[in-house]
Amino acid sequence: MQPLLNIAVRAARRAGELIVRSMNRLESLTITSKGRNDFVTEVDRAAEEEIIKTIRRHYPQHAFLAEESGRSGDNEFVWIIDPLDGTTNFAHAYPCFCVSMALARNNELLLGVIYNPIYQELFAAVRGEGATFNGKKISCSKIAALKNSLLCTGFPNHNRQANPNFHFYWDFTLRSHGVRRDGSAALDLAYVAMGRFDSFWEFGLNPWDVAAGIVLVEEAGGKITDFQGQPYSLGGSSILASNGLIHDEMVSVAAEVSGQLAARR
Ligand code: IPD
Ligand code: CA
Ligand code: CA
Repeated sequence: MQPLLNIAVRAARRAGELIVRSMNRLESLTITSKGRNDFVTEVDRAAEEEIIKTIRRHYPQHAFLAEESGRSGDNEFVWIIDPLDGTTNFAHAYPCFCVSMALARNNELLLGVIYNPIYQELFAAVRGEGATFNGKKISCSKIAALKNSLLCTGFPNHNRQANPNFHFYWDFTLRSHGVRRDGSAALDLAYVAMGRFDSFWEFGLNPWDVAAGIVLVEEAGGKITDFQGQPYSLGGSSILASNGLIHDEMVSVAAEVSGQLAARR
């Protein structure tokens, strides 16, 4: 696994450098919209090309599922790539975004790398071998009660008015130390893995938003399910990540809020 991880780290760092270099010409960047508030910059595309080029040089037979270019190749090994997670933050020069990449073999996630190029924070995990932050072993927090926890969630870039998350955001805010909304799902998951957050949830995320973060959280001793506490599969409609200790409490509050929402309809 180590050679694969080394290449993933190299690709993530290269993409990260490209993203940081482009920050001093933010005003002149072409920003296009995939939908209302769903931005993509030329930097997203260039970073993705850099990652794919780096991996192909070493593993020409591998396949890709990448946010900007979609599926390519046909192989048991598939790299799942979000070249710039947190594009809206990037476009506003808010320094909370990252490169996120995972490798799956026959649909099983093997490794994940998440890199914040502004703070040069590198999160990496290999299945069965634990998770690291800048080379040091990490584990999820030991907070055992929701009332003592710091949480994080996110809202989709598009069709936000149809998203039920405001109701959950409200409730969890009242029951915890607070709910952050950082705008980069991959970093949010990395922060659960290293204990900055005790739990993260979101609706409607894509495989490239979460693949690397899932390996990190699980290898750091945390738990991943959907918001109902059922097994999560990539591309599922909701994801709940936690340190494991507050997972059941998160699921039961989510069920309570869902019940209230259903009764109101
Ligand atoms: C977005 C970020 C954000 C999440 C959105 C994602 P992008 O990814 O992860 O935190 O709330 O749902 O689409 O578009 O910046 O790669
Ligand atoms: Ca993303
Ligand atoms: Ca992206």
